[in-house]
Formats: sequence, structure tokens, C-alpha cells
Amino acid sequence: MKISVIGTGYVGLVSGACFAELGIDVVCVDINEQKVEELKKGIIPIYEPGLEDIVLRQTAAKRLSFTVDTKSAVTDSEAVFIAVGTPPREDGYADLSYVYKVAKQIAKNLNGYTLVVTKSTVPVGTAQEIKRIILEQNPNADFDVVSNPEFLREGSAVKDFMHPDRILIGCETQRARDVMGALYSCFSKDAVPILYTTPETSEISKYAANAFLAMKITFINEIADLCEQTGGNVQEVSKALGMDARIGKGFLNAGPGYGGSCFPKDTRALTQNGRLHNAPQTIIEQVMAVNYARQAAMADRVVQACGGDIKGKRVGILGVAFKPETNDVREAPSLVIIDQLQAAGAIISAYDPIAMEEAKKVLQDVNWCDNSYDAAKDSDILVIVTEWSEFKTLNMSKVKAVMKRPCILDLRNIYQSEDMAQLGFNYYAIGKSIPNISSGEKAVKKLA
Ligand code: UGA
Repeated sequence: MKISVIGTGYVGLVSGACFAELGIDVVCVDINEQKVEELKKGIIPIYEPGLEDIVLRQTAAKRLSFTVDTKSAVTDSEAVFIAVGTPPREDGYADLSYVYKVAKQIAKNLNGYTLVVTKSTVPVGTAQEIKRIILEQNPNADFDVVSNPEFLREGSAVKDFMHPDRILIGCETQRARDVMGALYSCFSKDAVPILYTTPETSEISKYAANAFLAMKITFINEIADLCEQTGGNVQEVSKALGMDARIGKGFLNAGPGYGGSCFPKDTRALTQNGRLHNAPQTIIEQVMAVNYARQAAMADRVVQACGGDIKGKRVGILGVAFKPETNDVREAPSLVIIDQLQAAGAIISAYDPIAMEEAKKVLQDVNWCDNSYDAAKDSDILVIVTEWSEFKTLNMSKVKAVMKRPCILDLRNIYQSEDMAQLGFNYYAIGKSIPNISSGEKAVKKLA
């Protein structure tokens, strides 16, 4: 089977490369000539574990190729995947102009029965609009439009593609269903459920999944606040919740608020989509507001831990990526925290294993360091913002020795309060009672 994937961004490149790995002939198309030339040489524009190996292997095997020529790619394909960006517009709604532009190009070059498949995250109704656009451009076109959203996470995208929880296919005809079934036939039916729905259900499901996960994180973050005020431990609460199969244990790690290129964008788009269709998504609107406030409140915690005034104080930041295993800093909590601390007069040193180059494009006046110990050097407080593995195995005696004051704010709960207290740190975590205050003492105080 031969397919093309239009757009070599995050979703397009991972999907194209992984389809090739599964034995399908794939042409990846992009309008950016330089990017295409680099990809031909095996230069990958994003950091994604495992992706480079696959691209190199499949390019060498001639199952994966890259081009700027949409016409030839579409003409030769049984299925054309649209994987271009749907960035937020000023009003929060998903900008579908790239998707529709590509639909027009596809329309002109269709050659025999072809599937036009959306991989991009698109609001409900997009498949029908693509159908309308194609018919307007080419009334005789023989095609079906399919919604086949991705559930890839940055940092584990290859693994997520190869071992999906489910494959979601929104289509309207048996012909489309047969082609999509053949495309995914390499996945064992027992191991990976394939769910066939209408395009509308599929489109809504993608947004609903991301919004639900964003809600779950926001929920546990508020529970973390309650734990802090009352002597509870949010990690244990998460464990207790997660053991209930109806709730599930994923996405219950309390932290500085969610970020990244998906949850903030998709929650915004879903609420706009809800308003447009007179179906307000009030819970998600609240989730967005709470998450925004949470990111901002993290800087206050740094200030409080430093005695209420941060002016002239040195803050070491560990991690600027929005999560580990990615160089992506889009909507990362680190950006808000650093920005606010700088505005309050703090001097920032920061280190991230991968994301510093990206962060340099959006942050000013940060002293970028070669490692964690340099970031900690002479600092009044060290703030763990991203839970990179290497931060979990730091030599804490060494960290303490280089710091001006032994104070740590661990926004990802990667260390244990007792261990840190024993080492002599003033250690503040998320959703745990402050050391030296007996469990229950605070809660009792409030009740009284
Ligand atoms: C998310 C979804 O998880 C993917 O299924 C989806 O395909 C993708 O968006 C997309 O729509 O393209 P991603 O943005 O890569 O993936 O990252 P996540 O691992 O979901 O993390 C998002 C944010 O939530 C991060 O800031 C992370 O630190 C935060 N998070 C996650 C928590 O604060 N706590 C948790 O328990 C889990």
C-alpha cells in the first residue's frame, strides 16, 4: 500500500515514519524545502526518542521518502493523510486554514479512489468541510474523507504509535473502512481495538480525550493544594484514586500545571467549538482558568520559600521543557515562572538537558548552565520544574555544597521530604505537608 502524509511536523513525521516501519510505502510532503532536504539526509527537526533510527532505516529501505511535490505524492497514493498544524487563532478557535489549503491541493491531484484522512487535531465538522471543498474543486473526484486522530505524546510518540491503546477511525463508507482496515492490519486485533465511528464522533473524541486528561491533572492539582493545607499527601491520594479501575492511575501526578503544544491549545479550541455549537464546555473553561492561575502561582511559591522577597536573589531552575524527553517549551510552566520571578527582581540560572536552545528563543537574561550543579551554584533556591530522569539522581550533598542556601522547591515531587530534611535542605514539595508540622495538626486547626 502506498500513502502520503502532508506536513512533516510532529504528528506527520512520526506517523509517516512509523507507517513505513510497519511496511507501508510512505511519501512525506512539506512545503519547507530546507526541511525536506534535511530530512532526506536523516536530519530530524524535532527531538523524539527512537525517531531518527526509524527515519534512517526506512529511508535506506526506500519505504520512506520526502518531497515538496504534493502533486506526484497525491497522484500515487491510495490514502493521503493531512497532518498540518492547527494552531490557535487569536480567538482560541483552531486555525484550519492550512488544512483547507491542503484539501484544495489534494482535490486537484486525486487520481482514482483515494482516502483523504485527517491526522491533524481538528474540530467537529472539519471532515464534512473538507469533503465540500474537494467536491467544489473537483466535482468528479472519487474519494472519502476519514478522521483518524493521533494520541501520541511528545517524548514517547514512537512507542505510542506502535502500541496504541486504540485506533480511532471515523468514516462514512464501507470502502473507506476497508482501506483503513488494510492500512492498520499489521496491528493484532486482539491487542489493539479498532473503533469505527462517524467522522464527527472521531473528531470530538480526540478533543474530549485531551480535555479529559487536562481536567484530571487540574483536579489532582487542586487536591494537592488541599493536602498542603491539611497535612495530606497527594502522591498517596493519587495512588488511592488510581487503584479504582473506574478512575485509572494515569495523569494524576500533581505539578505546576499542564503545558505543551496540545492541552492548552485543544482545551481552548474545544471550548470555542462548544460555544459555536451552543454546547458550552463549562468544566473545561474552568480547567483552563485554574491551570493558568496555577502556573502563575508557582512563582509565588518560590518567593514565599525565599522569605517573601526575591529581589536580587539567585534562583536555579532545573528543567525548562514542558515535560521530559522533549525539547518543546511551548506553554511550559517554566516560562511563566521565570518571567514572573524576573519581573520580581530575581536572577535566574537554568539548565535543561535538551530544551535550552528552544528556551533561548523565548527567554531573556537567563544564565544558561552546562549542568544541574552549575544551575544550583550560589543560588538561594533551586526549583525543579521538569522531572527529567537525570534530576532524580543528583548528588544532593554536592548540590547543597554549591548552593548559597540549602532550599529546594520540587514542583514534580521527585524527592522525598524526609530524605531532603535529613540532608539539611529546606524542602518544599507539591501536595505534601510542610516538614515539622505534624500530620493532621493543620486540618484540626482549621476545623476548630
Ligand atoms: C498530549 C496527550 O497526552 C496525547 O495523547 C495527545 O496525542 C497529544 O497531547 C496531542 O494531542 O498531540 P503531550 O502534550 O505530548 O500529549 O504531553 P502529555 O504527556 O500529555 O503531558 C501534557 C502536560 O501535562 C505536561 O505539561 C505534563 O507535565 C502534564 N502532566 C501530565 C501533569 O502535570 N501530570 C500528569 O500526571 C501528567
